[in-house]
Amino acid sequence: MGGVPAAGKDRIRIAIAGVGNCASSLLQGIEYYRKKKDKGSLGLMHWNLGGYLPYEIEVAAAFDIDRRKVGKDVSEAIFSLPNCTKVFCPNIPQAGTKVKAGRVLDGCSEHLADYPEECRFLPVEGEGATKEEIVSALKDAGAEILLNYMPVGSEQAARFYAECALEAGCAFINNMPVFIASDPEWARRFEERKLPIIGDDIKSQLGATIVHRTLADLFKKRGVKLERTYQLNTGGNTDFLNMLNRDRLASKRESKTEAVQSVLETRLENGNIHVGPSDYISWQKDNKVCFLRMEGKLFGDVPMNLELRLSVEDSPNSAGVVIDAIRCCKLALNRGIGGVLYPPSAYFMKHPPEQYPDTEACRMTEEFIAGNF
Ligand SMILES: NC(=O)c1ccc[n+]([C@@H]2O[C@H](COP(=O)([O-])OP(=O)(O)OC[C@H]3O[C@@H](n4cnc5c(N)ncnc54)[C@H](O)[C@@H]3O)[C@@H](O)[C@H]2O)c1
Repeated sequence: MGGVPAAGKDRIRIAIAGVGNCASSLLQGIEYYRKKKDKGSLGLMHWNLGGYLPYEIEVAAAFDIDRRKVGKDVSEAIFSLPNCTKVFCPNIPQAGTKVKAGRVLDGCSEHLADYPEECRFLPVEGEGATKEEIVSALKDAGAEILLNYMPVGSEQAARFYAECALEAGCAFINNMPVFIASDPEWARRFEERKLPIIGDDIKSQLGATIVHRTLADLFKKRGVKLERTYQLNTGGNTDFLNMLNRDRLASKRESKTEAVQSVLETRLENGNIHVGPSDYISWQKDNKVCFLRMEGKLFGDVPMNLELRLSVEDSPNSAGVVIDAIRCCKLALNRGIGGVLYPPSAYFMKHPPEQYPDTEACRMTEEFIAGNF
């Protein structure tokens, strides 16, 4: 994964901030598809995306604040506690890229201290690395794209890594709900530096958001008036544990709720829509369960309701989309395009700067990949 790129082959050099479950699934997936090496492999939206295969990605640099991860080769750090996602590709070769200390800031919520060490972050002593150290690590590693995987509510840390990307000349993929791509000032700064950015908050491959949006669209197309809905989610990973602190949740709720509201014909009043992470159930580990209810009126104003239960492994579900976001970012770098990549942001992210229905966002993304956008 790490080290010097193979001669003559233009591989994509990524850096990762936050070597948690999502990063683990992504790196396992890169190795998994390297072994598969055939187009019939399941679980991908694109085998060849603009000339790049899923395994033509390598980790040039990685940052974390957990003392069980810092200093380890990234191929080992992804299997270190408290990571708990499904191991679908256990034999990952040494990457030659050691996880470096990041900057702690607000990455580690205080309430985590009440939980056993194997379930929570164990931060390094002190404040961690400085911006100068991280920027020079990114530059020295030749990282092209920085992936932000900070925990929900890490407003300072997310902005800190975005700042590092700008200074180091890296594109940025913002997988979590601190609004950066969808903040006009940040978007302008990335555009000025001619650096692509995709964000915010990754929309999983087949997760609660895309299912909820698709059903809401179905209601609309079939003339059923949606009157009330909820989407309750439970899980047992550090993401869900972190989100027990309701003070950290504002942007996650906004991102998830807006993803549904934006596809409705008429927006629901706040009291009639409830979307968000609901509880932490430790034995669920990285299995996320979504309980979805939609109530509406059919022909003749006759009431109906729909209930759905979706059970997914949370982190591979995000990695299946990030692997395409990375390759879209690389295409933009190759084409000299900077600033927000609107089509991939709309298709891949819950809270893009511009929302489109998913079928439209998908079409626009294919156009972008083909170079027609
Ligand atoms: N399907 C999904 O899993 C999904 C979907 C959408 C969004 N997200 C978001 O992606 C983010 C990452 O999710 P995850 O499941 O990998 O979380 P995680 O808790 O498994 O990983 C977060 C990692 O960040 C590290 N970290 C914390 N503060 C840091 C700092 N200041 N600098 C460097 N590292 C730091 C932690 O030690 C941990 O390794 C979360 O915000 C999550 O909400 C995930």
